[in-house]
Amino acid sequence: MNNNITISAITDENEITFLKDKQSFNYTYDKATRVSLKEHFKLKDSLYLLEKNKDEFVGFCSIDRGWWENNFFFLREILVDPNFLKIGIGKELMSQCIEHAKNKKALGVVTETAFDNFPMQKLCEKLGFVKWENPQWDKGITYKLIF
Ligand SMILES: CC(C)(COP(=O)(O)OP(=O)(O)OC[C@H]1O[C@@H](n2cnc3c(N)ncnc32)[C@H](O)[C@@H]1OP(=O)(O)O)[C@@H](O)C(=O)NCCC(=O)NCCS
Repeated sequence: MNNNITISAITDENEITFLKDKQSFNYTYDKATRVSLKEHFKLKDSLYLLEKNKDEFVGFCSIDRGWWENNFFFLREILVDPNFLKIGIGKELMSQCIEHAKNKKALGVVTETAFDNFPMQKLCEKLGFVKWENPQWDKGITYKLIF
């Protein structure tokens, strides 16, 4: 792997602005998404991982405690730049977020994705998530990983 690629945890909410309009497939970090990310960044134990190739955006993944079941983390966002897809970046970022939740003694991790988002579904299943009947959301698939 390229030596210039680094993963770092965001420590200041202003860094979230760097994500502006970053996109992959039909997914874009628009204003509403960035506002939501800024809100959830404030929660205790949030982890926002930014991957770069020097100054170039490579990928992003975030996990936070903004989920209604006690002591579960929500993997809120994951996105890998089109130039870096399918080389293991998404899996690595998501694995680090899961590890973080484990270290915080969470019961597990939840995430949600669209019915037609096959890359995300495959990635979730690869990491051990299983489909979960979500009583609060039926517009896509909810995945759960119980530790
Ligand atoms: C989902 C996403 C983050 C995966 O990132 P990635 O870095 O390309 O994924 P990885 O290379 O780590 O792949 C890990 C596994 O995911 C699955 N996968 C990834 N891309 C896939 C694709 N296009 N089709 C099918 N499976 C795919 C595979 O199981 C893969 O394992 P394998 O390489 O051993 O077959 C990326 O496709 C993306 O950014 N999509 C747009 C944003 C998005 O949809 N985010 C989720 C919103 S809920």
